[in-house]
Amino acid sequence: MSAEELSDGIFLMDIDGRKVLATRNLVPCTSVYGERLIGEEGEEYRLWDPKRSKLGSMVLKNFEIPITYDSTVLYLGAASGTTVSHVSDILRDGLVYAVEFSPRSMRDLIQLCDQRPNIIPILADASKPRSYAHIVEKADVIFQDVAQPNQAEIAAINSKYFLEEHGHLMLSIKSRSIDSTASPKKIFKEEVRKLESGFDVEFEVLERKELEPFHEDHLGVVARMFVDDED
Ligand SMILES: C[S@@+](CC[C@H](N)C(=O)[O-])C[C@H]1O[C@@H](n2cnc3c(N)ncnc32)[C@H](O)[C@@H]1O
Repeated sequence: MSAEELSDGIFLMDIDGRKVLATRNLVPCTSVYGERLIGEEGEEYRLWDPKRSKLGSMVLKNFEIPITYDSTVLYLGAASGTTVSHVSDILRDGLVYAVEFSPRSMRDLIQLCDQRPNIIPILADASKPRSYAHIVEKADVIFQDVAQPNQAEIAAINSKYFLEEHGHLMLSIKSRSIDSTASPKKIFKEEVRKLESGFDVEFEVLERKELEPFHEDHLGVVARMFVDDED
């Protein structure tokens, strides 16, 4: 076995000749969603299933991941915390604000936060950032996975409220949540166009790739908020 660090806190492990994704476990001996724990040279790693995580799949699709060990992350669409738990592993000296509007998922998320003090759970609708503006500080990275028809708009308004100048937006766009009959490629093109020039905040799209074979009809996007330095 060996562990190669791909980016801050994210590892590719070689297990019996198979390459698997993992993060270093912040809470040793504790699995979050049934994932396997692996000990290696005095450290414990949690395997990270890219089929259960858009962020995990973006790592394996070779996106440059802007999250570092001391980042402040705003995570929109946290569900019960599968991916948020891996973000929490990465953030040894950082913080993740986890927004979710389903009370059922929030119950599980709160249990996760009992063990992981670097996760701040927020029960709120991500399309109403003003409702949590008193809790959330400026973020270096916004990660969004909300499967809503107005995904780009939700990303833009949250960036306007919370993203640091030159901060990064990471977005998973699910075409079927926008239109289940139109061509995904056409939808992706239009959503990227909206990010570039459709709102009163604009983004420079740094990378965009479809998330197959891990997630069908999903586009991963990494963008940087555009700031006009001449203002
Ligand atoms: C695909 S799941 C997220 C899975 C999660 N990101 C993970 O990898 O573990 C989408 C989640 O977004 C939540 N969601 C959808 N619209 C939302 C909104 N407007 N505000 C907050 N959460 C929302 C849903 O309740 C659901 O839990």
